[in-house]
Formats: sequence, C-alpha cells, structure tokens
Amino acid sequence: MSFQEKVVWITGASSGIGEALARLFYQKGAKVILSARREDELNRAQASLGAKPEDILVLPLDLADHDSLTKKTETALAKFGRIDVLVNNGGISQRALTKDTRLEVDKKIMAVNYFGTVALTKAVLPIMLKQKSGHIVAISSLAGKFGTPLRSAYSASKHALHGFFESLRAETWQDGIKVMIVCPGYIHTNISLNALKGDGAVFNKMDQAVANGQPPAVCAEKILQGIEQDENEIFIAGRDIKLIYIKRFFPNRFAKMMRKAAPR
Ligand SMILES: NC(=O)c1ccc[n+]([C@@H]2O[C@H](COP(=O)([O-])OP(=O)(O)OC[C@H]3O[C@@H](n4cnc5c(N)ncnc54)[C@H](OP(=O)(O)O)[C@@H]3O)[C@@H](O)[C@H]2O)c1
Repeated sequence: MSFQEKVVWITGASSGIGEALARLFYQKGAKVILSARREDELNRAQASLGAKPEDILVLPLDLADHDSLTKKTETALAKFGRIDVLVNNGGISQRALTKDTRLEVDKKIMAVNYFGTVALTKAVLPIMLKQKSGHIVAISSLAGKFGTPLRSAYSASKHALHGFFESLRAETWQDGIKVMIVCPGYIHTNISLNALKGDGAVFNKMDQAVANGQPPAVCAEKILQGIEQDENEIFIAGRDIKLIYIKRFFPNRFAKMMRKAAPR
C-alpha cells in the first residue's frame, strides 16, 4: 500500500507514538488528520511537520466524549472527502494497585481506551464501507495480551480492544476493510507521566522502563510496515516479547513471574 494522497486520521497525535505516526505518514505523502484533546499541542505538532494547510487538519476531540465523535467525523469527511486509514492510538495508562483504584478511574480508562476507540471506529466505519476500502488500526499493548500488576484497568481496556477488533475484522474483510492490532512493549513517550493513579490524579513520573523503551519513530516505522503488509496483529517490543510466549505455553510459570513483579 502506498500512502501517497491517502487520508489518515490519527488520535493521540499531540504526543508520543501518535505524533511520530503523523510525521511518518506525512513524509510518505499522506493527508493527515491530527486529533487529541490539547489543541495547542496539536498545532505544535502540525507546525513541526511544516505541512501545507490543504494537506492537514487539526481536529481536537476528547475520546471520552463519545457523542461528539460523529460530528468530528463529519468535519474530517468534509475536509478530505474520504478516510483511508484510522489509527486509534489515543489512550491513557494506569499506575495503581486494583485495591487502590477508584471505580471512576476504571471507568475513565475504559471510556477513553475502549469506548472512545469503539465510538470513533463506528463513526468512521460507514464511510469505509461505502468506499469499499479502509484500514483500521488499534494501538493495544503487550498489556492487551496479559495482565500485569498496577495495570488492571489499563490491561482490561486493551484486552477488550482485541475482542472488538477481531470480530470487526472477520465481519468486514469482504468489504475491503483491513483491521490491524498493534501491541507495543515499552516505547519512550509520556505515557507514564500521563498515567492515572488510583485517585485519578496523574502519575507524573517517567518510568525507567519507558525511558529505556524504543523511540516512537521506530514504533511508527513498524506500524506503517504492518499496514503495508496487511498484518492482522504485530508486536513491537524488545526482550519483553518473550512474556507473550511464556504466557501462552507456560501459563503457570507466567503467573509466578507476575507475582514477583507485584509491589509488596
Ligand atoms: N509508550 C508505551 O510504552 C506504550 C506501550 C504500549 C501501548 N502504548 C499505547 O500507545 C498509545 C499512545 O501512547 P503514547 O505512548 O504515545 O503516550 P502519550 O505520549 O501519553 O500519548 C497519549 C496520547 O493520547 C491522547 N489522549 C489521551 N487521552 C485522550 C482523550 N481523552 N481524548 C483524546 N486523546 C487523548 C493524548 O493527547 P491529549 O492529552 O492532548 O488528549 C496523547 O496525544 C496509547 O494507546 C498507549 O496505551 C504505549
């Protein structure tokens, strides 16, 4: 797939992986729609691309405001007339034990990571069905494949994406719509700074593992390759990828490893 002249909508484009994706898609000749909550950060990202106004749309949105997403989709369609790629990347993480996480925080994380992604996908889907083409990408996580301590809500929200998008993929392949799920390990972004503590306040600390993670630009390269190669699911991880296989083939050993990872 060439991205030249393709219309690509990226959520979470104000930071990290989403911003790196926007840069790479734009460099490959795509027209890009940049979405996230912070308009000033989206404008900064747009300015750093040096893009022509006709090739870019800054479209602020809040994934937790599900009812607003149909109108946002109409605005995107009015600008470019089609949507070829939707990258559901916007999301928030968690840094708290289950016992310390208020139910409102579980709901907030599900509202953004899961229901926000579902609501936007449902708003864009009729456009892709009409086009008889489209590529929908969901940024999950290794935490979408297994649960780890301090991430009960986050991991649940990412697991839920797998169920939704695997079903959608099976339903839409005959309509020319491709669905890819991306499972990154640690990527060096602001994810831990923006993660929620149990009381809903932001964690505001850079995790060492995240600081040592892969650069977002490398992650973005691998995501574009995955789209080009029509992959169903890709993993973008370092040594932590082995956990996927340990969980699958040695589930009891995996459970013991996670026990040790839990803070005392
Ligand atoms: N970094 C990692 O190690 C890692 C690993 C696995 C998966 N991921 C996933 O990768 C995705 C991108 O995260 P990142 O690592 O790039 O972290 P990040 O730098 O914190 O970026 C998160 C992005 O999501 C946006 N966002 C958050 N809440 C939103 C909301 N309610 N509505 C709309 N946009 C919202 C943020 O923009 P605003 O604040 O402006 O809204 C920001 O652009 C997330 O889905 C994350 O779960 C990251």
